[in-house]
Amino acid sequence: MVFDFARTPAAEPQLPAGFFFVNWSPSLVDPHADVLHRSFRNDLDGTVFTTFRQYGHCRRLIELVSVNPHFLPAATLLIARNGADQKQEYVANIQGLKLSAEIGAIQNVAVLPEYRRQGIGQALVQGALQGFRQAGVCRVTLEATADNFPAAKLYHRIGFTTFRTYFREIFDWNP
Ligand SMILES: CC(C)(COP(=O)(O)OP(=O)(O)OC[C@H]1O[C@@H](n2cnc3c(N)ncnc32)[C@H](O)[C@@H]1OP(=O)(O)O)[C@@H](O)C(=O)NCCC(=O)NCCS
Repeated sequence: MVFDFARTPAAEPQLPAGFFFVNWSPSLVDPHADVLHRSFRNDLDGTVFTTFRQYGHCRRLIELVSVNPHFLPAATLLIARNGADQKQEYVANIQGLKLSAEIGAIQNVAVLPEYRRQGIGQALVQGALQGFRQAGVCRVTLEATADNFPAAKLYHRIGFTTFRTYFREIFDWNP
C-alpha cells in the first residue's frame, strides 16, 4: 500500500486523552520489542510470521531495524500513558525507514489488544507520516497481509491505496 503526500494531505494525529508520543531513542529497544511481541503474538501476522511469537526474535528485529542505514528515527514512535504508579506504560509502536530521498517505508504497526479501537493505531500512523514528511519523503509504503482486514481498513481510512497484491511463501522455521 502507498500513501502519497501529493494526493492526500496527512491529518494531524489525535491521541485519546492521557496518551502521548515517545520519540525514538536507542534505550527504547526493549519497549519497542515488548509492544511488538504482545501485539502480534496472538494475531493474524503472528500466525503468518513466527518471528513475532518470541520476544527475543522481536528484540532482534528492532535492533536490526534501528541499525539499518535507512532507519528513520523521526518516523519511529511509541505511544505511552502514565500508569497508576506514574510509570510509563507503552501501548503502541511503529518503525520507519527512508529508502531513498523520496520513498519511506513503515515497518511494523502495533497496538496492544486491550488498547485497540480507540483511535491509537490511526494516530500512530499519522504521527509517523509527520516524521516522514519532515524528512522530505513524498510517498510512504507498507506491506499488509491481505487477510488483515483491521489493518487494511485503518490504512485505507488514513489515505493509503493498494497498488500491488502478491503471494509470498513463508518459511516457517519455528512453528
Ligand atoms: C491494526 C491495528 C494497528 C489497529 O489499531 P487500532 O488502535 O485498533 O486502530 P484504530 O482504533 O485507530 O482504528 C481506526 C480505524 O481502523 C479500522 N479498524 C481498526 N481495527 C478494526 C477492526 N478490528 N475491525 C474493523 N475495522 C477496524 C476502523 O475503521 C477504525 O475506525 P473506527 O474504530 O472508528 O471504526 C491493531 O489492530 C493491531 O495492532 N493489530 C495487530 C498487529 C497488526 O496486524 N498490525 C498491522 C500489520 S500490517
